Amino acid sequence: MALDVDFVRAQFPAFSEPSLDGQAFFENAGGSYTCGPVIDRLTRFYHQRKVQPYAPYAASELAGAEMDEARARLAALLGVETDELSFGPSTTQNTYVLANAVRCWLTPGEAIVVTNQDHEANSGPWRRLADEGIEVREWRIDPETGHLDPEALEPLLADGNVRLVGFPHCSNVVGEINDVAAITALAHAEGAFVCVDGVSYAPHGFPDVGALGADVYLFSSYKTYGPHQGIMVIRRQLGFELPNQAHFFNGETLYKRFTPAGPDHAQVAACAGMVDYVEALAAHHGIAGKSPAETGDAVHALMRDHESALLQPLLDYLAGRNDLRLIGPRQAEGRAPTVAVALDRNAESVAAELAEHGIMAGGGDFYAVRPLEALGVDSKKGVLRLSFVHYTSPAEIEMLIAALDATL
Ligand SMILES: Cc1ncc(COP(=O)(O)O)c(C=O)c1O
Repeated sequence: MALDVDFVRAQFPAFSEPSLDGQAFFENAGGSYTCGPVIDRLTRFYHQRKVQPYAPYAASELAGAEMDEARARLAALLGVETDELSFGPSTTQNTYVLANAVRCWLTPGEAIVVTNQDHEANSGPWRRLADEGIEVREWRIDPETGHLDPEALEPLLADGNVRLVGFPHCSNVVGEINDVAAITALAHAEGAFVCVDGVSYAPHGFPDVGALGADVYLFSSYKTYGPHQGIMVIRRQLGFELPNQAHFFNGETLYKRFTPAGPDHAQVAACAGMVDYVEALAAHHGIAGKSPAETGDAVHALMRDHESALLQPLLDYLAGRNDLRLIGPRQAEGRAPTVAVALDRNAESVAAELAEHGIMAGGGDFYAVRPLEALGVDSKKGVLRLSFVHYTSPAEIEMLIAALDATL
């Protein structure tokens, strides 16, 4: 079954917005368009429920119920328990709080593993644990391909001293999809927990985190068609092993333990709209899973098939040019449609030239300074990043290739 892209695009007001007409959006890895159900819920919340939630009057009860609904339905979609999912201001902040908890949990001499493929959000906060005497081991990418080889992780875990491994589901510049289940199994076998940055992966289909086995899985809903929130899954075992970071009286509630900030009520509530959207896609395509996670998996597969079909011609086109360096795998299968290319000039100015051809793209380091430097790319020049998702149409890919032809 093929994804009905016209139906998909009809769910996003941006595609009927006159000010965006004639432009094709290729900076989705920075932040996606927002789907209609999320915008509707956000508007309704601000109109009808913008009061302190969980008090005994109708507007407040509705507000609290909708926030709970968002958490429960998203958790079910991700294959985890409702209290294992929490909302924070951003993934960077969620990781920062988590790293602070780990800082108090570990003792000097114990070790963690970080990668040089990660966005700084899942790297810097962990590396700072070295200040407390924690040994920080780096799992390094191949400097040519950007590939993160699980075999290279094994020796880092061999002495059994590692308590946590942080790695990305998919890097925001390399684009290769890491095998989270296999890497997690490796880490678990050596007694380490894992913290997976799913920010660059989740827009391509909400994962079944329960099936992947990750102890922590983070992503940002402003890239998954929702409002500007960071979403963190933390599984119960690790969640209660780490020290509470919230007010002492909230420490027994898992979804409050690592979110010391007061939540953005309206945005949390509006996150239920992302699940409405997945369900609308499922219904339209005749998908009826036995569980929300199973339905999510089938929608995920629909999205991925569509993306891969559009991605291969773009990769072939870029691989065929000798005036740029295509970062990451050249085959669509196994990679996300987040395509970075290094050029011999400043990438941001190339993005500005593309804008004259109706292409919305970005250039820079995308906070992936460590991966770019490991690949030998000048992070000051940066990379031109062309990223799309399942709502992108074949015509937009053609428009992009024509614009690149005219610009490069
Ligand atoms: C791969 C990756 N991880 C983490 C982040 C940080 O997410 P947030 O902006 O929610 O802090 C980003 C943001 O671009 C990202 O691309």
